[in-house]
Amino acid sequence: MEVVEAIITRRSIRKYTGERVTNTQVELLLKAGMYAPSAVNKQPWHFIVFRDRKVIEEIIKIHPNGRMLEDSDVAILVCFDENLQHDVGYGPVDCSAATQNILLAAHGTGLGAVWVGIYPRENRIKGVHRLFNLPGHIIPFSIISIGYPAEKKELPDRFKKERIHYEKWQV
Ligand SMILES: Cc1cc2nc3c(=O)[nH]c(=O)nc-3n(C[C@H](O)[C@H](O)[C@H](O)COP(=O)(O)O)c2cc1C
Repeated sequence: MEVVEAIITRRSIRKYTGERVTNTQVELLLKAGMYAPSAVNKQPWHFIVFRDRKVIEEIIKIHPNGRMLEDSDVAILVCFDENLQHDVGYGPVDCSAATQNILLAAHGTGLGAVWVGIYPRENRIKGVHRLFNLPGHIIPFSIISIGYPAEKKELPDRFKKERIHYEKWQV
């Protein structure tokens, strides 16, 4: 799939067929995540791949908007290391790029995925931190719910000319 086409046709997929996603497939997604840009190339990320239904039940208690995880085949928790990030505030920015790369790689390889937001909500960060037994310097950023897509979405029209400005702010 051509890259701009992949970016435009990617949609959040929250319904899955139940077909198995292999660890080899997941590793390709993680490779895509690790090729994301990061400030001063610090690559401050860590990834936890999980399939445990009990863990997923606990996540949904903390985060009801993550209910699609129940039907996912596999999920990835994206975290950043506070000690590896370039400076305070860069870890989440870098993890955003990694998360988007993973979403695009999922789409490009025929999978469906959705970004489940953890950071910056304090209660979600604390709850997920505890649940995954993370050390103090590892901060959970997002969860990516993954499976083979069982839904198709219309292409929305999001191109807004009024949001584009040339040279200076002009309305
Ligand atoms: C920071 C962030 C947090 C998000 N958190 C959730 C979430 O908790 N649950 C969910 O179903 N979707 C979540 N999403 C997905 C958005 O709802 C989705 O990207 C948006 O509606 C646009 O749809 P699209 O991804 O199909 O283009 C999140 C997206 C971002 C960028």
